Amino acid sequence: MDTLIATIDPNYPDPEIIQRAGDVIRSGGLVAFPTETVYGLGGDALSADSAAAIYAAKGRPSDNPLIVHIADMASLERIAVDIPDAVYLLARRFWPGPLTMIMHKSDEVPHATTGGLDTVAVRFPSDPVAREFIRAAGGYVAAPSANLSGKPSPTSAGYVIQDMDGRIDMILCGDDSRIGLESTIVDLTEAAPVILRPGYVTLDMLREILPDVTMDTALIRDDSGQAPKAPGMKYRHYAPRGEMTVVDGTARDVITYINERTQHDSKEGRRTGVIASDEHLDRYRADVKLGMGADGDSETYAHRLFDTLRHMDDEEVERIYAERPAGGMLDDAIMNRLLKAAGHTLVSV
Ligand code: TXA
Ligand code: MG
Repeated sequence: MDTLIATIDPNYPDPEIIQRAGDVIRSGGLVAFPTETVYGLGGDALSADSAAAIYAAKGRPSDNPLIVHIADMASLERIAVDIPDAVYLLARRFWPGPLTMIMHKSDEVPHATTGGLDTVAVRFPSDPVAREFIRAAGGYVAAPSANLSGKPSPTSAGYVIQDMDGRIDMILCGDDSRIGLESTIVDLTEAAPVILRPGYVTLDMLREILPDVTMDTALIRDDSGQAPKAPGMKYRHYAPRGEMTVVDGTARDVITYINERTQHDSKEGRRTGVIASDEHLDRYRADVKLGMGADGDSETYAHRLFDTLRHMDDEEVERIYAERPAGGMLDDAIMNRLLKAAGHTLVSV
């Protein structure tokens, strides 16, 4: 398939390009597009065939439900039923923005889009290109992250092209994603709201509106013995090709430990990589060293994380060591992605 690659100015999206992208979706095709979290791979959310095409393009199992993206509040009532007040309260505070809410679906949403579930995940993104594109596409765009299944979500157009060129109809190339981690997912179909995936909208922020929100315990520990409620959380995600270890401890102990490991790996002829705060970078010995911003600056860390993991692959690094980041507002979201990338290998020194 020939993929049309169109560069779009995020401040003044060319209406002709947006229209063309919308037409592709309306006629059953697929378009990758920028959002404030990560790039999405969009298709018509109300068409079972489009959902099937998305799964095929990503190489993703079809029991993993898709998020439906809307561009105004009025669109919500066509796709969801029995909408609780909590949805409107959260929408007033966090939409448009990086929050996805799970609610009961209407008959208009095919089971192919929801992976067979009777619930639907809805997100109203803030990115202006995303919003205009969704409107041009008819108002309902199903979109997972625009990576091949098992790769880190793409936060820049270059990585979307790397994964999707030749597999979809069109790619809208905008700026790098402002946030760089996927949206927070909160389930509002149970008695009390539960975070199924941590993201830029934190537990504390949600609790300001709904004090009874909790974090799904299944996503905190790998061995919690519970099945994750966001089906996508069970798949191996964000995995770089190299074997990755997260190392926790005082800065001094972490640096000593990682340098011992990289020295050992180099002797065995393996390429090594380190992911660390900017301050610590020169204290490491490794083939590839990538800085994640100042210690404790979790927004910069989040913004760089997926690109960093992809970069380790581009550099063919075989052993990756990451300092446990020094907390910050987005710590839950970052640790969730980092531990997945590391297959939950966390060493305390
Ligand atoms: O920021 C984002 O959310 C990005 C951009 C493109 O909007 N999208 C994204 O989609 O991250 P994806 O498909 O990579 O992740 C969607 C997650 C999966 O873990 C899936 O299992 C969960 O949402 N999910 C979707 N619908 C659900 C539902 N009805 N119930 C529970 N989990 C659901
Ligand atoms: Mg994804």
